[in-house]
Formats: sequence, C-alpha cells, structure tokens
Amino acid sequence: MPQELIPDWTPHEGQREFLETDARYRVLACGRRWGKTDACAAAIILEVLNSGASKQLILAPTLIQAEILFDRVVEFAEMLFPGELKVRRTPYPSLRVGDHKVWARSGHVGRTLRGQGATHVIVDEAAYVPEELITEIALPMLATTHGRLTLLSTPFGKNHFWRLFRRGLDGFPDFWSKTAPSWESPYVSADFLALQQELISERAYAVEYGAEFMDSAGAVFLTEEIEAATLRELPVLEVDKVSIGVDFGKYDDYTAVVVVQGDRDGANVIHCEKHRRENWQSLVQRIADVVNRYPTARVICDETGTGDAVMALLQPLMPKQCLEGLVFTPTTKVDLIDSLSMMFNRRTLHMTPNLDLLRELQHFEVTHRSSGRLKMEAVGGYHDDLVIALALAVKGLVAPYHLVIAADGKRNFHETQPIQSQTQTYSTSRP
Ligand SMILES: Nc1ncnc2c1ncn2[C@@H]1O[C@H](COP(=O)(O)OP(=O)(O)OP(=O)(O)O)[C@@H](O)[C@H]1O
Ligand SMILES: [Mg+2]
Repeated sequence: MPQELIPDWTPHEGQREFLETDARYRVLACGRRWGKTDACAAAIILEVLNSGASKQLILAPTLIQAEILFDRVVEFAEMLFPGELKVRRTPYPSLRVGDHKVWARSGHVGRTLRGQGATHVIVDEAAYVPEELITEIALPMLATTHGRLTLLSTPFGKNHFWRLFRRGLDGFPDFWSKTAPSWESPYVSADFLALQQELISERAYAVEYGAEFMDSAGAVFLTEEIEAATLRELPVLEVDKVSIGVDFGKYDDYTAVVVVQGDRDGANVIHCEKHRRENWQSLVQRIADVVNRYPTARVICDETGTGDAVMALLQPLMPKQCLEGLVFTPTTKVDLIDSLSMMFNRRTLHMTPNLDLLRELQHFEVTHRSSGRLKMEAVGGYHDDLVIALALAVKGLVAPYHLVIAADGKRNFHETQPIQSQTQTYSTSRP
C-alpha cells in the first residue's frame, strides 16, 4: 500500500501487514489503542480505491461503536473525494461515493440485513458481537458476491472470535490471522503501557494490551455464560415488571444505571448507561430521566459512602418511586454478585451487546482476602459500575413461586431462589 494513498495517514508496520494481505477472511486480534478502528477505515477506503463498485457494511457491538468507524471513513473519504460524498445519518449512517456504498449497523440488527448482499463486511470489536451475527448474517451476505470479511477485536475469552482466529493459524484456505499487541503501534506510548500494567491485573493486561486469548479462569462470569446471554434480539417476556439498579460513582468513577425487565426465571437488560460525574445536580437529573420512563419500577441504589447524600438529591426528582438503598458490606456484595452470577449460570438473563458492560463482566474477578473472605471487584482500569448496577437491578427482580407437587407427603410452595431483604426503604424525610 503506497504511503500517500490516504493523505496525512501512514499505516504503522502492523497496520500495513493487515492492509496488504489479500486473504478473503482477515482476523486480527488487537490490543487496545493499536489502531483497529483506523486500520478498518483504511481497509474500507482501499476497497473503494481498488474496485469499480463496492457495498461495504460496518458492524460493531453498538451503533455508537459502528459510528466511530463510519465517521473515520467519512474523514478519510472527504480528503480523497472532496465534494463527491453523499452522507446520510438516518435511518442509519450511510455514505455513497460513485458506485460505492458504505453503511453502518449495530450488533443487534439482523433481520433487516437478511437478503442484502455486500462485497465487504467489517466487524469492529468482533469478539463482542453475538456469534450468529457473523455466521447467520455477515457470511450469507457475502455468499453471492464472493466478498470479504474483516474481523478486528480485542480478545474475549476463547469464543467465536478465537475459533475464527484459529482458522488462520491452522492454515485454512482464504484465512489470515494475526495477533497485534498494543506496543506494536508507535502511537501507543511506553509510559501509557507501563501505567496500565501497574494499574490492572496481569490477566487483564495480557488480554487488553497483549491481545492474548485467555479462558475465564479466575473470572466470576464465564465467557460462555456471557456469550449465551448476549443476543441479537431480546426474547419477548410475559412478565412486564421492571427493576432499576443505580451505582453512584465515587471519586472520578462512573455512575451507572441499568434497567431490567422480567423476573428471576427470565429477564432482559433493556437499558444500560453510565456517565462520568460532572456535577451531582446534572448527574441525578440524567438518572431521574431514565427512572421516570418506568414509573412502576423498583429502584435500588448503592447507598454506600456518598450514595446516601446523592439519593437525597435524587428522590425529589422521581416523585412516583420510592428509592431503596443498599449499603455494601463484604457479605452484601458477595450475595449480590452471587445472585447475578446465578442468572448467567442458569441462562435466565439476556442482553444485547454493550461493549462497556461486556468488558466489565469479562474482567470482574474475585480475590481472596487474608481473612479468607472473598473480595469481589473489577480488576483496576475496568470499572465495575455497570456490573454493580446490573446486580442491583437483578436484586429487585421477583423470584416466582413454583408449585412443587410431592409424590407423597404434604404439598410445598417454595421460592426458586430466596431473596434476602437487605434493602432499606429510603425517603428524604428519614431522620
Ligand atoms: N497509522 C496511524 N497514524 C496516525 N495515527 C494513528 C494511526 N493508527 C492509529 N492512530 C491513532 O491512534 C489512536 C488509536 O487508534 P484507534 O482508535 O484506531 O485504535 P483502536 O485500536 O481502535 O482503539 P480502542 O481500543 O480504543 O478501540 C487514534 O487517535 C488514532 O487516530
Ligand atoms: Mg476502536
């Protein structure tokens, strides 16, 4: 690839190797900040430059993620084809230049793409999209066009991305695979990497920066469980009860809000967001905006530390709900995470892909304190705010009663999973 092809952008050695392969299926396992998104944008531009016509689809776990790549393609294309671009933002981001079309969708579309063809499908953070998006949507779109598939991602356990990556290593025809650690990029400073290495666990560093595929040993949530929970479309549930978990950021942490619908036998994550704190007033307003969409929801907040004071700001903004607070002790936290982990284990919790939540789940680890108690935490650098908010939301779900008819003896009603009442009802008038 001649250096001057994209003005003001020169691929580094690793990116060059990726861009020069003519394999039909490219699978690149990258460390954070390696330049995946830039390399994908360059790969799309090269297809435009090297072919008379193309239809290129960008997929990523969320539309926001897909838009980051789409915007980079637009930036490159504006430099190369000034005045020739037609860019649309609705109903989804799309760009036309001559006989070329590039469009972006999120990892939980699917049905709408069936039957469409593409000459190139690019999946950014491919390890974090549901497998069937690649096997049932992306690959069939390429069948009649004999098109190309490009998968770039940081690893996520030994999941579908790893299996596709192995194909390149095992010499399958048309496959090309490579591991690209972050330090391969000259734009990632040694200081930044040294700091990360200090801050996060050895395992998290090996995965996120070394681009190593590691299984879920030591992790609370197993890759296969998280993968089974991550769907393109959420199942339709009969239970319309909604429960909301709020984890307030301490220091410069994020504040997370997660909304789930259903009960302990089957629940969907229907909303998930986190914000870095600017000031408490605007933050509580954002939380209230989410909560007020679900007037009958149960709302459970982490009351530990500053939580108590923030709840006092929040309560008046949501007059229809009564906030419940949970003070974390080592026991309540272990119980809370246990219940969440049980839902994953039983395959009763479902969600659409959310990169932040998936990363937090992947790196949520258990460490043992000298006292022998388990200490649950996300390993540094990977916040656990969304995981905690999700666990609080799950705590608010009802455990349905199941009628058990004993063959003999007396009949017995019991809960599938007892809920211990550890929450306190909160009101602003509380002494
Ligand atoms: N060849 C290049 N020339 C100049 N800058 C580059 C190049 N490749 C990447 N960068 C810059 O390095 C930074 C990281 O790149 P990019 O966002 O593509 O990495 P990434 O691997 O997708 O990161 P993340 O893990 O955050 O998704 C960006 O600011 C990008 O513009
Ligand atoms: Mg990226």
